[in-house]
Amino acid sequence: MQDYKIAPSLLSADFARLGEEAQSVIDADGDKLHLDAMDNHFVPNLTVGPLVCAALRRYGIKADINIHLMAKPIDRLIADFAKAGATDITFHLEASDHIESSLTLIRNLGCKVGIALKPETTWHCLESILEKIDLILVLSVNPGFAGQTFIPSTLDKINQIRNLISISGYDIRLAVDGGIKIENIAQIAEAGADTFVAGSAIFDHHDYAEVIAEMRRELAKVK
Ligand code: DX5
Ligand code: ZN
Repeated sequence: MQDYKIAPSLLSADFARLGEEAQSVIDADGDKLHLDAMDNHFVPNLTVGPLVCAALRRYGIKADINIHLMAKPIDRLIADFAKAGATDITFHLEASDHIESSLTLIRNLGCKVGIALKPETTWHCLESILEKIDLILVLSVNPGFAGQTFIPSTLDKINQIRNLISISGYDIRLAVDGGIKIENIAQIAEAGADTFVAGSAIFDHHDYAEVIAEMRRELAKVK
């Protein structure tokens, strides 16, 4: 079986108990945490910044924290999130004025480098930067809110990006974010994804361990 990873998205957690919620999903067998940083400008919602990432580390969270930046400009936030204990920093191409320098900045600060693609963003722009990235995050909903429905045309995009990664030979994770549920996770894996970001499917369930185990059972069926 593929090395599949499940990344609970804290956007759907109870923010009044964020440390406890973050630890609970890791104890429930989540692989890493996904933290959405939205600025009410790049996307129409406002969430959290580096202070909250630092607070999670102070609370004692040892798991990887993936930052999904939905903000503009990004370079100062990149530096602040790296200092706050982020493991990976992923940004949308449209949010950077100098993509190469943002990629280099993340790498030089010791974090893994991710590129996020909105549903309408073509994957062709990845071709020239593949050697500089560790992670591609394909948005399967319009970024901004949890609980939306998976956009089916994303499956084809995932498939094409999987081919691109295979041909390149680089070691790049292919993550999908938005609308992932027990019912569709296997199909998304079959299209070529190896990392699954899920917010409402996990946090709206009364038993985090049960839903994550159910997702893993679905993934185990994928050939
Ligand atoms: C949406 C965020 C997602 C969000 C996904 O803009 O990037 O990470 O938490 O939520 P669900 O899994 O509920 O679609
Ligand atoms: Zn996200």
